[in-house]
Amino acid sequence: NDDQFKKVVSHAKEYGYIFASSEIYDGLSAVYDYAQNGVELKKNIREYWWRSMVYMHQNIVGIDSSILMHPTTWKASGHVDAFNDPLIDNKDSKKRYRADVLIEDYAEKLNQKAQKEIEKAKKRFGERFNEEEFVTTNPRVIRYLTEQRTVLERMARSLENEDLADVKALIEELGIADPDTGSKNWTEVRQFNLMFGTKLGASAESAMDLYLRPETAQGIFVNFLNVQKSGRMKIPFGIAQTGKAFRNEIVARQFIFRMREFEQMEMQFFVRPGEELKYYEYWKETRLKWHLSLGMGEENYRFHDHEKMAHYANAATDIEFDFPFGFKELEGIHSRTDFDLKAHEKFSGKKLQFFDHELNESYVPYVVETSIGLDRMFLAVLSNSLQDETLEDGSVRTVLKLPAILAPVKAAVLPLIKRDGLPEIAHKIIEDLQWDYNVVYDEKDAVGRRYRRQDAAGTPFCITVDHQTIEDNTVTIRHRDSMQQERIKIEEISEKMKETISY
Ligand code: GAP
Repeated sequence: NDDQFKKVVSHAKEYGYIFASSEIYDGLSAVYDYAQNGVELKKNIREYWWRSMVYMHQNIVGIDSSILMHPTTWKASGHVDAFNDPLIDNKDSKKRYRADVLIEDYAEKLNQKAQKEIEKAKKRFGERFNEEEFVTTNPRVIRYLTEQRTVLERMARSLENEDLADVKALIEELGIADPDTGSKNWTEVRQFNLMFGTKLGASAESAMDLYLRPETAQGIFVNFLNVQKSGRMKIPFGIAQTGKAFRNEIVARQFIFRMREFEQMEMQFFVRPGEELKYYEYWKETRLKWHLSLGMGEENYRFHDHEKMAHYANAATDIEFDFPFGFKELEGIHSRTDFDLKAHEKFSGKKLQFFDHELNESYVPYVVETSIGLDRMFLAVLSNSLQDETLEDGSVRTVLKLPAILAPVKAAVLPLIKRDGLPEIAHKIIEDLQWDYNVVYDEKDAVGRRYRRQDAAGTPFCITVDHQTIEDNTVTIRHRDSMQQERIKIEEISEKMKETISY
């Protein structure tokens, strides 16, 4: 809900995870900076993905291709012609909107109305309530949900047929008004390309028009044969890559969910034609397992299989996550056929084929793609982890229950007081641990307050040095989630942490 989302955004700032970009100039819309803790969490998510993709699969290798690419790349990929959002302006307010988002919001309101009826009935009928039966028999709910579906289907059809006049007609028929002013005085709908342009070269005449890449995938496609040959790869094999992508998004909202500059983690898996659906199923299952391995709750994920597909795909699904604003796409898994490689063959005039010794023939491989937004994953982790917990004494503690493997700081070392040699012992412990873990020192305030501060920052362990440490070389290690404390020897700290933090 809204309140939880606002809490996530302000917590991200207060605890050094995310700042608005160029904040002293009032920020830049849909662009964000990762702060001291954010950069660590982001790096750890990237690492968790990279290990599972590249190190755990002997037939997947990584690359790091450049953001700037030859401009013909984007003709071949279809981005120059078809990477568009339908825009509409309100003539009175002079505000610009995405026509599809206005319609989706309208449809979502219908869905919410239906959900309200269901909630009401649930309360009324209690134990006896049968949701499935209610949804299929209650006239109001049927009306809301049918209208929702009809609206979305008509929009999808019109967009697919490039029938922008019908998109406008739909907005008018539904009586959709400017969300800010209520005006219904709309312009025509027109297409707007999402790619950021830039120029290569100094003089105005000879400069070449380039684009900042809108996805990392094309850097993989154009390198397919280079990697295959230099790595002596045999089909099936994959190429993985993480890196920045840029889209001139018109609707900039929902924090880091939709950004203009963001990072993708993509993998293209090259297979024999005809075997793509087998690998599509494999990657669907494997990617969901990766998500579930973080322990953020099975109920927070669902597949959304696409019924209508882009012309180049023969199967597609999204892994959706339950963000504070509802279930939304987190990752896409697409069976992209040989569309991209064939297009690059055509535009470049170079063959992009693999000679299959077993079949004794050459072919353009088919591709199964997995594509996840790193920032979106960050938001999933952050919003899922932030909790207000009521303790036995009635007080509330704010705790960021990040999966320990992803936590920016793994342990805080705390001398109980600032004298009697305790700080020196704490620093010595840090010197030993910092080879393996990102650890911090904290001596300010009472130890209880320091625990709370580390809880809120997401640190899984607090190691406290007290007077007993001087006598017997033991410390207490406190676990963030259970708040349990154990007394262990200083030499055992690293092993103890490893029990929770290891791949
Ligand atoms: N190569 C396929 C591709 O780029 P996409 O569905 O456009 O497919 C893949 O993007 C993923 O990238 C999405 O599932 C989402 O996680 C992330 N993503 C896309 N646009 C984004 C944006 N503006 N801000 C943050 N993440 C974005």
